Amino acid sequence: MKVSIIGSGYVGSVSAACFAELGHEVICIDIDEEKVKLINSGRAPIWEEGLDGLLEKHSQKTLIATSDYDYAVQNSDASFICVGTPSGEDGSIDLSIVKAASESLGRAIAKKEHYHVVVVKSTVVPETTEKVVLSTVEEYSGKKAGRDFGVAMNPEFLREGKAVYDFMHPDKIVVGAIDERSGFVVSELYRGVDCPVTHTDPRTAEMIKYVNNSFLATKISFANEIGNICKQLGIDTYEVMDAVGTDFRVERSFLNCGAGFGGSCFPKDVKALIGKANGIGYRPHLLESVVGVNDRQPLKMVELLQDRLGELGNRRIAVLGLAFKNDTDDIRESRSIPVIAELLRQGADIAAYDPMAAENMKKVFPDITYCKTSSEALEEAEGCLIMTEWDEFGKLDKEFGAMAGKTVIDGRKMIDPKKLSTDIDYEGICW
Ligand code: UDX
Repeated sequence: MKVSIIGSGYVGSVSAACFAELGHEVICIDIDEEKVKLINSGRAPIWEEGLDGLLEKHSQKTLIATSDYDYAVQNSDASFICVGTPSGEDGSIDLSIVKAASESLGRAIAKKEHYHVVVVKSTVVPETTEKVVLSTVEEYSGKKAGRDFGVAMNPEFLREGKAVYDFMHPDKIVVGAIDERSGFVVSELYRGVDCPVTHTDPRTAEMIKYVNNSFLATKISFANEIGNICKQLGIDTYEVMDAVGTDFRVERSFLNCGAGFGGSCFPKDVKALIGKANGIGYRPHLLESVVGVNDRQPLKMVELLQDRLGELGNRRIAVLGLAFKNDTDDIRESRSIPVIAELLRQGADIAAYDPMAAENMKKVFPDITYCKTSSEALEEAEGCLIMTEWDEFGKLDKEFGAMAGKTVIDGRKMIDPKKLSTDIDYEGICW
């Protein structure tokens, strides 16, 4: 089949490369000429495991990029909207880019004779596909949805760093279509992918995505709350979760307590769902608490450090880990951001290290010290905070030699102090 993908960010470029790998002809549309050039030269606009290889394999063969909507719509059966949905100032979702893409699609569909399916892959709050996308395309094309063109919502469940794998090996595919024809076109695109397909309506598909992410975020905040209680009682919360997680109704994953969740999805999606609920007159207390626990959790790291060191002004503090999770350079909503902000507020002298994310963090905190290695960050530090679950932080032994008798607060259960050859003053955030 022939498919066009609007937006060459993280979701768009992964979807484009993977649809090409599934044997389809793919046209990427992006208003950013630089991204268009990059894709046409077989390179990925973002770093994602396996993406470069797929783009190199398919670029200029079954995958091309353009900024021309008319060309892309004329030469494809379906267009996927994969543009960003940032948070507005109050945390609610900003749909302006989705709306702009729908207008451009509408203008292009106006000139097309054949049936074209508009598919929303961007994460949008329930009702958006019908009330914003469908109606905008109708307005700008002068055509009728369900008769002249199709509409569907097809959410993604891709983890950063594992997005290509997740696309090719999903747990589920959700297709929320306005009619059978649109739903058929979308599910045909995934032919060959072995997993259950849920056929539903657009607003249910939109809700499935929010509920999936909000539930995982809820598990993490629940684990953090339980971890905070366990710590006070001297109970190992990981042991508790290992046992509770054997219950198939609970399941062990996403019950690791620590410094909280970050990333481009969980914080934004929970807040967008809260915003939507408030908008229809329902106050979602549980979801508010999920955000509340997650906001407080990283600050606990600083409190624990203060309990040990007292005033932090002019004291050198090493921050290990800036990315929101391991194996990415992404710092969006990283829990190290509120931690560094609080340390700066207290006048600490920060030495930060991350294997991949330092360049990105320099844009947020240009004035702290960035180190090339963890040992450089730990040198002369009076305290250390471990913020990200990078594997290498679990393997630092000689590096912690510099921390003999000094305080290390672990936000990700990376260290077993008993296995270190140096005696450090160790404390886990919830253990
Ligand atoms: C997530 C979802 O997993 C994915 O399906 C999706 O649609 C996009 O959002 P991602 O943001 O890449 O993916 O990160 P993920 O690996 O899920 O981790 C999210 C955050 O939760 C990280 O900050 C991680 O450190 C934290 N986390 C995860 C915990 O604190 N405890 C856990 O037990 C698991």
